[in-house]
Amino acid sequence: MGSRWIFLAQALIVLFAGVQALPAPLLEARQSTSTLSTAQVAAFKPFTFYASTAACNPSTTLTWTCGANCNANPTFQPVASGGDGDRTQFWFVGYDPTLKTVIVSHQGTDTSKIMPILTDVNIIQNPLNATLFPGISSSVEVHSGFAGTQSRSAPDVLAAVQTALSRHSANHVTLTGHSLGAAIALLDAVFLPLHLPSTVTFKSVTYGMPRVGNQAFADYVDAHVTLSHVNNKKDPVPILPGRFLGFHHPSGEVHITDANGWVACAGQDNTSDLCTIGAVPNIFEGEDSDHSGPYDGVRMGC
Ligand SMILES: *[C@@H]1O[C@H](CO)[C@@H](O)[C@H](O)[C@H]1NC(C)=O
Ligand SMILES: *[C@@H]1O[C@H](CO)[C@@H](O)[C@H](O)[C@H]1NC(C)=O
Repeated sequence: MGSRWIFLAQALIVLFAGVQALPAPLLEARQSTSTLSTAQVAAFKPFTFYASTAACNPSTTLTWTCGANCNANPTFQPVASGGDGDRTQFWFVGYDPTLKTVIVSHQGTDTSKIMPILTDVNIIQNPLNATLFPGISSSVEVHSGFAGTQSRSAPDVLAAVQTALSRHSANHVTLTGHSLGAAIALLDAVFLPLHLPSTVTFKSVTYGMPRVGNQAFADYVDAHVTLSHVNNKKDPVPILPGRFLGFHHPSGEVHITDANGWVACAGQDNTSDLCTIGAVPNIFEGEDSDHSGPYDGVRMGC
């Protein structure tokens, strides 16, 4: 009897030692891998619909009559909409009383239209326009095309956000967008706080976002912007423009794996197989149709 207990105790010690003796990298990988819970994934859904809704004509987002996309966020109260869908992407601003936040959303573009822009090796990076972005170091550089697009809607978006904040006595703003609209939303996330009281807080949730700027830009975003950028499976857009061209992602990637898990990818440009860079090592391994989703069942577009 006694010896059996001793045997059991010894076996437990061996078992426990076995756990302790797991190679350090394995233990680290296990601890730092972070798959979002069902509730955490579900919390993205209203923003996913808002990002999708920006593809709808401004005349229908201003009246919130765009159909399924609008109906998915039924309590939304529009304030302003704009853009021509050509030189200036569509956008809308309003208030969500359920989430208690002002929403700013920017239209994206088709994979076929954005890929040529992103793979152009003559891409120019420029410092941010000092009028729109006062006080930001000239070492912070961004894609000149994205900056130009953002600058065209910026004054109207700022005015609409100011109206929405005062009309609804709000103090929180959420920026969203898909694809090119994600890049504009990220630039808005840097731009808007420079012109609004410091009591206003911000969050950005973007989908299928390309790289927007250089290392100094990514570091500025990490220091000043609360960001989640969601990437779907083998979408090639988030790996562009290439890091070898001097473009870098800020932190905050959430990658949807082939198994439909939502993984929080720590750090900037995380190279793990669970994150975009690992899943899409080059554009030939990308899957263009993954760009539009589905993101937890929601496909981008109106
Ligand atoms: C990259 O993300 C994976 C998945 O969440 C995580 O396990 C890993 O620690 C991250 N790598 C770095 C360098 O942060
Ligand atoms: C910077 O933005 C302002 C305001 O939109 C504009 O008037 C000005 O032309 C821009 N400057 C440059 C160098 O693009």
